[in-house]
Amino acid sequence: MTTKPGSAATEAAEVWSKADIRDYLSNSALTVGAGTPTDAGAGWQLPVPHPDPIIAAGGIPDAASLPSGELEAALARILNSKAKEVLRYGGVLGFEGLREVMAERQTVLDGMSFEPDNFIVHNGGSGCLDNLCQAFIDPGDVVVVEGPSYSGTTRAIRGHMAELIEVEVEDDGISVDGVAEAIQRAKSEGKRVKLVYLNPDYQNPTGTTLTESRRAELIDLCAREQVFIVEDATYSELFFDEAPPQSIYSMANGAGVLKIGTFSKVIATGLRAGWIQASKEHIDALGRVRFDMGTSPLLLHMLAEFISSGRLDPHILKMRPVYAEKCATLAESLREHCEPYVRFNAPGGGFFFWFECLGATSKEVSEAAAYEGLLFPPGTAFYLDKAHEPDNHVRLAFSNASLEHLREIGPRLRRAFQRVVD
Ligand SMILES: Cc1ncc(COP(=O)(O)O)c(C=O)c1O
Repeated sequence: MTTKPGSAATEAAEVWSKADIRDYLSNSALTVGAGTPTDAGAGWQLPVPHPDPIIAAGGIPDAASLPSGELEAALARILNSKAKEVLRYGGVLGFEGLREVMAERQTVLDGMSFEPDNFIVHNGGSGCLDNLCQAFIDPGDVVVVEGPSYSGTTRAIRGHMAELIEVEVEDDGISVDGVAEAIQRAKSEGKRVKLVYLNPDYQNPTGTTLTESRRAELIDLCAREQVFIVEDATYSELFFDEAPPQSIYSMANGAGVLKIGTFSKVIATGLRAGWIQASKEHIDALGRVRFDMGTSPLLLHMLAEFISSGRLDPHILKMRPVYAEKCATLAESLREHCEPYVRFNAPGGGFFFWFECLGATSKEVSEAAAYEGLLFPPGTAFYLDKAHEPDNHVRLAFSNASLEHLREIGPRLRRAFQRVVD
């Protein structure tokens, strides 16, 4: 657009061309950094063109199985039957009809009784975490997280100016002794630990599951220390053979625990719908600091229709063996082609495979693999310190890769290791 000389726009352009946006930014915007594609589920770019790229980077559902026809039918039904209702504002907690069907579902899944007001619906699990931080975190408060952890959540917590302490994830899940030490350390420095955030089932990125005994220990510890547990149950329903242990929420009978769930992985990430399950007192506090006029009523009505017409549970039942086969195919391909270079425990559910690189760093391997047309983030992406040592793990997402591509990962990875190690 051209501006007329002497016009208000010209003067404004003159003034603002000399201004530095950093003088205006909040501390959060100044310090949090731009983030990576892993944080936000964005697209990945190959360093050189490849005729058949394999993107094993993002935790997204199998694209070939998305229930798009059923969602479309549910959307058509609600628009035909109650357009006026679904096309207006829907309230702070989210469409009550959806929270009703969720209360029924979670009553069965968690074996305890829920009402609609035990739920607040947001823009995915990510929106839930943002709301939780808004309600519970003041700058300088401490949040204990898993190391490694899903980078999008740690970034969001940092964005609320909390101090994060990372506690190691072992084969049995987060070290509860490590959590106890982290809490003591923070307290000895005069800091307040408000939350322990963890993803106990098929953790992103390690695929590990917190054992039942560690869940009980964590509940005891956090009650003693009066620290809330935030249980991120994003992958809990996506097990292969055996269900994970009882949820932390259910083991604690809800006391001191807030649980995050999402439709992103069991249906589709593009829905951007997730929920927090908590006591009414907690939900009330969360609702008070919500200022976005609620999540799309149109979408939530569609989801309620999808679930109450019996479409969600069969879809999840159908997807479990799909992901189990994908995971087994990847494990087989790695065993067959990469044996001297990798060590791993295959996960029992979820979307991710975490393996140890022998004789090479994850950065070297992920860069070399990109030249073979295979994309995945280095394991360091999931630690608070992106220069984390030792740098020897890698995360592969198998959920949206075809079986053919999963079989091809082993040979490509072997060539990547050969470039670096041999
Ligand atoms: C552990 C975990 N929590 C939360 C999210 C965010 O999911 P969404 O905001 O799509 O529900 C993800 C996405 O990958 C995740 O892996």
